[in-house]
Amino acid sequence: MDSVRLAVFSILISGSWCSVTKDLKFPEWFKFGAATAAYQVEGGWNSSDKGENTWDRLFHSNPEFSSQDNGDVACDSYHLWRRDIEMAEELGLDIYRFSLSWARLLPNGFANKISEDGKRYYNNLIDGLLEKGIEPVVTLYHFDLPQILQDLGGWANPLISDWFADYARVAFTLFGDRVKTWLTINEPLGFCDTGYSKQQAPYIDGEVIAKYLCNKYTLISHAKAWRIYDEEFRPRYHGKVSLATIFNWYEPATPEDKEITDLMREYWEGRFAYPIFSKEGGWPPTLEKFMADKSKQEGYSRSRLPPLTAEEIELIRGTYDFYGLNHYLSRRIRKARPGEKIGTWPLYGSDEINIQMESDPSWETTGLDWFPINPAGLRKQLHWLNQTYGVNEVMITENGYLDLDKHLDDTARIKYMRDYLEQIQLAIADGINVTAYMAWSLMDNLEWLGGYGASFGLYQVDFTDDNRTRTPRESARYYSRVTRTRSLHHDHEGLNYV
Ligand code: NOJ
Repeated sequence: MDSVRLAVFSILISGSWCSVTKDLKFPEWFKFGAATAAYQVEGGWNSSDKGENTWDRLFHSNPEFSSQDNGDVACDSYHLWRRDIEMAEELGLDIYRFSLSWARLLPNGFANKISEDGKRYYNNLIDGLLEKGIEPVVTLYHFDLPQILQDLGGWANPLISDWFADYARVAFTLFGDRVKTWLTINEPLGFCDTGYSKQQAPYIDGEVIAKYLCNKYTLISHAKAWRIYDEEFRPRYHGKVSLATIFNWYEPATPEDKEITDLMREYWEGRFAYPIFSKEGGWPPTLEKFMADKSKQEGYSRSRLPPLTAEEIELIRGTYDFYGLNHYLSRRIRKARPGEKIGTWPLYGSDEINIQMESDPSWETTGLDWFPINPAGLRKQLHWLNQTYGVNEVMITENGYLDLDKHLDDTARIKYMRDYLEQIQLAIADGINVTAYMAWSLMDNLEWLGGYGASFGLYQVDFTDDNRTRTPRESARYYSRVTRTRSLHHDHEGLNYV
């Protein structure tokens, strides 16, 4: 046990989940980062030969969305990538996570044509980061599917796994010599569940069947990409590949709700992670049975959760090098009462598994009822992941504070970051191998359904200014102290936490 682990261990033996008051240091190997995604920051939606994607289509062509903020220009990172790198440097980041726009790199969606402009753009970004000593962490897919592939059925078409595999091979070939950490797919729940319940792109009413097809084919797509890397690129480049899973901490509202909370975890996270990370592979067993029984009762001749063949189970099982965790908040879970109106999935409840989500009165709030703050939940969740899958390494691929007030003096965000980072220190001291933290987000950007009104950024972006001027918030100053000193500074500028 090294000195950090020892120091924290001595505090931990009291057995509490509470925060510590001593300013501990992060280990040297721990990597600090920040994250963004192509559609949310790049803009340049029709620059050069870029193809149209599902979000371009939704915002431009759906009357319900056409008056809303869209990503046509966003933070204009397509032109301002040098400034983005400068900001990453100002923050003292070890890593910067961004995503490739599939339609920018492959305008037709298919790998028969690679855009020179797309290649140039991502090469510039990658090389520029490396020149500053910042490692790129690249997501292949962060919600923006080429429209041409959507028109062919998108993630509900089994052929998507070959289209995605081809795209992944192009990306690994072009950038694999310099990119050593890859995320295949960001938050499948984010586009399968919300995309097929008419909340987000592709905005299809497919909650009963299509969302589960999407679920299955994202798993297969991820697995094929991982195996391509493993067989064709790992021997040369020695990198790591996983996916980023959104998983908040869910706990039972009462002891009687324990079973339903377990089912809820399988439904939220297990659908996308169990087939990859569990020792035995396949769908999470309780959920698989639940869905089969429910589908039968509903008169279907087979489960709406499409079965995985033995071959598919083997294809998917073990296709990870670390667990990529997007974690923001905690919720309490309880069984819905008879006749009660169930809240909308995925923020308030689920009709499918008959649960409601609520907040514990002791948790702090953010002004959004579905976003309570419970830093200790992150450490509990890291333990849960460890016990459930025995994962060798966890990277926090997203964590961040949503502010509706976009001011520069963002004390609440600093407190959020500090408290969540502290839970990571504690988890490391517990023996869990958490190796990286990527703050969401480097800068304010297009929040999918919140437009530019909601801010997650360490840097404020002026969206009324053609130059999209970026200004550091107080949280940026705080985070750069943390990255440079590798400790949390409980005393930062008059914030009395302890
Ligand atoms: C998760 C998504 O990956 C990201 O795109 C989004 O902006 C944040 N959560 C905040 O909602």
